[in-house]
Amino acid sequence: MTETDQQGIDPARPVPDIRTALPGPEGQKVLDRDGAVTSPSLPRAYPLVPKRASGSTMEDVDGNLFLDLNAGIAVNSTGHTHPAVVAAIKEQADQLLHYSASDFYLPIYSQMCAALAETLPMEGPTRVFLTNSGAEAVEGAIKLARYATGRQHLISFFGAFHGRTYGAVSLTASKSKYHKGFGPLLSGVHHVPFAFAEIDENGHRSHDEEATFAELDRLFETEVDPSEVAAIFLEPVQGEGGYIVPPASWVQRLRALCDEHGILLVADEVQSGMGRTGRMWAIELADVQPDILISAKGLASGLPLGAFAARAELMEKWGAGAHGSTYGGSPIPCAAGLATLRTIQEEGLLANATTIGDQLLTGLRELQAKHPEVITDVRGVGLMIGVEFRDAATAAEAQNQAFQRGLLVLDCGVRTIRMSPPLVFTAEEATTALRVLGEALAALEA
Ligand SMILES: Cc1ncc(COP(=O)(O)O)c(C=O)c1O
Repeated sequence: MTETDQQGIDPARPVPDIRTALPGPEGQKVLDRDGAVTSPSLPRAYPLVPKRASGSTMEDVDGNLFLDLNAGIAVNSTGHTHPAVVAAIKEQADQLLHYSASDFYLPIYSQMCAALAETLPMEGPTRVFLTNSGAEAVEGAIKLARYATGRQHLISFFGAFHGRTYGAVSLTASKSKYHKGFGPLLSGVHHVPFAFAEIDENGHRSHDEEATFAELDRLFETEVDPSEVAAIFLEPVQGEGGYIVPPASWVQRLRALCDEHGILLVADEVQSGMGRTGRMWAIELADVQPDILISAKGLASGLPLGAFAARAELMEKWGAGAHGSTYGGSPIPCAAGLATLRTIQEEGLLANATTIGDQLLTGLRELQAKHPEVITDVRGVGLMIGVEFRDAATAAEAQNQAFQRGLLVLDCGVRTIRMSPPLVFTAEEATTALRVLGEALAALEA
């Protein structure tokens, strides 16, 4: 029995295969109910109504097949319903659904912490705290950074996205609507320019490293003494802000600045981590070690699991009761997380992310050469790829044309669509994705 048979998706059908108008009749029923009862705050990109999925194939409630380059927003790292992950979940479900690791000793909790610690880009001992989501891990990291340093101020970047809870949303500066109506936000948060990625008249992206450091100088000179800054929160590849890869030298300068002033460098690897860039952690691309690292999304292939890890010496500063979580590191997400870490290693998924990412980048640059008026930039590393369009409306239309043809991509930044397929994405699937995107672009220009 193949993996595809297991999920009930007909392996004989090509992918994508769209058989109804989108949304189809069954999908429309879901949309109608959803529209009446759910919070209107949910952003909703387009009317995709998933029923089941396997690998990089998604079937909707009307039997349409999609090629999934979203992976549930960079979550289904080992592909949808990977047999090893599903088996680990089932085995754990038969044994123990829940007991709070905050108050008692779950074997699988410390097993997960140890397995994650082995992958961390940090020399020396580390400690790990498990959460239910990315935002919850960001909150924990904020608390730890303040607690361990005894300092209040926090710095993050324009374009940053760290989540929706109060601390995380205060660090976020990608869209003003994330803040609108919610003030006052967490105090002591400051934003400075990310490694700016401007496009010159030849279409080349240039990095203005100086903007960041000039603004940090100004901040330290006029508003906040650096000795009162607890941490700089950095996405080693900016996600929601547009899939922007900063130069290694810029990340290294940030590290040096943190060292100079005793500021902690926190790598938010919720989107960029767990192998997405072809490295386990994207900060490895710059050969820099963070003091605290945050993970979630791909960590458990689809089950709610997040983590923040820190140099042991930092986490050992807080004592019993300073931080906890009823569900964080619950047994089933931990089982999925352990299976995910194993699968990434056993199936060579880091190397696959690099190989298939290069194939996609090459193909996308060919598409850019064919449609220079439409695509203004192609960038990324591994399977974290952004395609920037001439304006937001064109990016939205490209996303829609791709969806109508069964290719799932998602906008980010101002005028970019992101590709973050499962790390099991194959060469054949990449070829298909490029063909379908080419058709979507042709339709856009027609
Ligand atoms: C870099 C980054 N940090 C934090 C978060 C928040 O994670 P969650 O949605 O699991 O709370 C996200 C979500 O997109 C993210 O991309």
